[in-house]
Formats: sequence, C-alpha cells, structure tokens
Amino acid sequence: MNAARFPAGPPALTAIRNLAASGDLSRMPGFLASVARDYGPIASWRMPRGRFWFVDEPALIDQLLTAGGYDVIKGRGLRRMRRLLGHGLLTSDEPLHLKQRRLVQPAFHRERIAAYATTMIEAARAAAEALSGDEDVAVDALMNRVALRIAAATLFSADIDDAADAIGSAVTRAMAGFPASLSTFAELFDYIPWHPATRRFKHAKADLDAVIYRLIEERRRDERDRGDLLSILLSTRDEDGNPMPPELVRDEALTLLLAGHETTANALVWTWDALARNPDVEALLHAELDAVLGDRDPVPADYPRLNYTRDVVAESMRLRPPAWILGRRIVRPFQLGDWALAPGSVVLTSQIVTHRNPRFWIEPEAFRPERWSNGESAALPRGAYFPFGGGNRICIGESFAWTEAVLVLATIARRVRLRALDLSPVPLEPLVTLRPGRPVMMRVEPRRSKVTV
Ligand code: HEM
Repeated sequence: MNAARFPAGPPALTAIRNLAASGDLSRMPGFLASVARDYGPIASWRMPRGRFWFVDEPALIDQLLTAGGYDVIKGRGLRRMRRLLGHGLLTSDEPLHLKQRRLVQPAFHRERIAAYATTMIEAARAAAEALSGDEDVAVDALMNRVALRIAAATLFSADIDDAADAIGSAVTRAMAGFPASLSTFAELFDYIPWHPATRRFKHAKADLDAVIYRLIEERRRDERDRGDLLSILLSTRDEDGNPMPPELVRDEALTLLLAGHETTANALVWTWDALARNPDVEALLHAELDAVLGDRDPVPADYPRLNYTRDVVAESMRLRPPAWILGRRIVRPFQLGDWALAPGSVVLTSQIVTHRNPRFWIEPEAFRPERWSNGESAALPRGAYFPFGGGNRICIGESFAWTEAVLVLATIARRVRLRALDLSPVPLEPLVTLRPGRPVMMRVEPRRSKVTV
C-alpha cells in the first residue's frame, strides 16, 4: 500500500488548459503523452469536477477494464453522446447494458460476420471499380463512403443508397458540435432551445430519426428475417418474451451505425497513409495479395489467409488508433494497483499513448507490421494494445471491424495503388475518433492490367 494518497501529476491549471474543458480536444493526445513521460505509469491531479487519473501501464489498464466491471462507468464524453445515441450499447449503464448486450450479441456471431463479409467485399469492389486510374481521390471521403455503405447495408439491408447519404450527412452535422459540447458550460446550452448549437443539433437529430424510424417501420411491416442486424434487433425477445421497445431499437441501430462506420473508415484511411509512406511494406502487402488472390477479388474464406494484410491493419491501429482515448468514472470504491480510487474519480487511458510506450514496444514510432508475426507481440502484456477496449464494454464489433478492414483493403489494394500527393505528415484531428486533420489526397494508379472478378 502506498503512503501517499495520490501519485504525482500535472498542475491542475495545465490539465484544465489541455483537456476538453475548453471544448477543444486537439491538445489532448500531446498532453497525455507528456503526463506519461513526466509522471510514469500512473498520474493524478485535481480538476474542478473531481479527481482525475491517467494510466499508462498495461496491467492497470487491463485491471480497470476487466476487473472494474460495472464499478466503473463510461466517462463524460460518451455520456454526452446520449443526446444523440440515447441508451444504446455504447452509452448505457447497468442493468440495461448487460441485458441489451445479450440481446444484440447474436448479430455478431461468426456465421453472421461471414455473411456480412460478402457485403463488405461488394462495397469495396464497387468503390474500386469506380476508380478509373490516374485520377486524384480524397481517400478519407472515399473510405467514409465505403464504410457507411457497409454499415448501412449490413444493418438495414441492401438498396438504401439514398438513406445512406441522408444518414451520413445528418450524422456529420450532429457530430460537428461534439467537441464544443464537452466544454464546461455547454450542458447549459442544451436547455436553451434558441441557442444556435442546440438548434443545429436538434435539426440534425430530427433528420436522422426520420430516416431511422422509417427504416424500422418498413421492416416491422415485412417481418422476414433479412439476415441483417435490424432483423435481429426486431426479432429478439427478452426473458419475459417482450420485444425490444421501438426507442431502444432506434438507439441500438443508430449506435451500431455510428460506432460501426467512422472507426473502421479511419482505420482504413490511416492504413492507406502508412502504406504510401512505407513502400517496402506496400510491396510485401502486394506480394501477399498476388499470392493469395492472384487475379480475383477476395471471398470471405480468404480472410484467414490474409495474414500480412491483417498485420498491416494491426500496426496501423497501433500508431493511429481510431478510438484514441477511453475514460471511466468510478461509481463504487475501487482499488487500482496500489491506489484507492474514490467514487466520482475519473480515470483516463489512451491507446495513442500506451501503444507507443517504449517500455513495451521495440522502435515504438516505426511502422513495422512484422512485429505482429515475429514473436514480439506475443510477449506483450494484456492491456499494452487495446484498440477495441476490453472487459464488459469491449467493442461488440471487433471481429466485424477486422473482417471489414482486411477485406476492403485487400479488394482495393489488389487492383490499385494509392500514391500520396502530399508526403508532409497528416495532422491528427482527435474528435470522438482519430480523424485525419486534412483531406488525404492520393493518386490512383492501376496495379494489374488484367482484372477478373
Ligand atoms: C476499427 C474499428 C473499431 C474500433 C477501433 C472500435 C473501438 C471501440 C472501442 C475502443 C470501444 C469501447 C469503448 C469504451 O469502452 O468506452 C468500442 C465499443 C463499441 N463498438 Fe467499436 N470499434 C470499431 C468498430 C466497430 C464496429 C464495426 C461496430 C459495429 C458494427 C462497433 C460497435 C461498437 C459498440 C456497439 C460498442 C459498445 C459496446 C458495449 O459497451 O457493450 N464498433 N468500440
């Protein structure tokens, strides 16, 4: 047991200036990295709303996520997202969370993912076919479109292109005000209906609800199992035989749509960016694609054979984790390593910091996919790499996301090469997910002259 009650940490004023209290998240990754550098595995400081902790130690991260259970709940950032997402899996607390998790889980069973994989490949093929070659393309916008199409198709079934566009634009508008909504006084604006931020958010949410409720209503009338996520949400029954209430179907559907597309899109954008900067890695990727696929697009059964492709995605999510920060609020007294955490404390962890901790990673800043197959990663402690979180709140879409990222990358990279037009570093834009801070423009070059399907 430690004699001191708290480990050392940065001065409160420095923390306030750098954390989201200002509604600006851009300084947070750098600030958290400096806290890890200056104070080591665990640091703590006071904030106006209570005590904060930052943990950069795999064992403690693992303990927080797995042993914490429901003694720890989501931090303020995700709770603020309830305005949009209601009480879907990402934002709900016990006992609702456990009940809903059990009801939604069957949508992510292995055989379902295999069925979604076909949709993923189709969407990537359509995107690749639309790239005529020797043109310039904004890869961030392209990956967002592909991921949104995949999320919309697997969630609500095929042919909803119009709905996908309407959803995409409403989601972007609703999320635009998210960082500002974290500022200290922003919650007050929620109660001022004529405040511009409140009005913008309400309009975007109303547009989104109109599309989602229409899709739910149409499906409710046509009760066939279409094999998509929405069919599962509508057909599932709780232990008393009751269907999920319509508002919860809406919340879960919107949560899956939102959580399911932006993260994967960002994983893919950062992967293309890394490939463009690392030609040796790109050549090895092409060699695997040529060996496994030759002149055809992938089929779902190819997924387990695309090992290097997967390692490339894993390494991309190490250096540029789409979910870059993970916070928890302590609701019951909790022992974290040597430290007693009181209810009300907030614990922050950050993938973008811990995934580069030099105590655990060889050449932490280098893009080296081979670390995932040469034994290096096998020696890592649990909690050193956690792009999908952990414990009872681990990402429900993890296998979905791996399958999507690998198959989309394979389908497109087999056909074309994307060459960066601007090799200056792409700035990070850390919002809810880690986005590129500028358009990622690339030149499309055909790879194989003969393309068969
Ligand atoms: C590369 C892609 C993805 C990344 C990096 C990612 C990351 C994460 C992380 C870190 C969490 C935990 C958040 C926390 O503990 O506070 C999470 C939760 C969640 N993710 Fe993902 N995710 C990805 C893709 C997906 C996909 C494809 C879906 C659905 C189709 C999805 C749905 C969810 C849901 C519903 C939760 C909440 C789970 C719960 O609390 O029970 N995610 N994700």
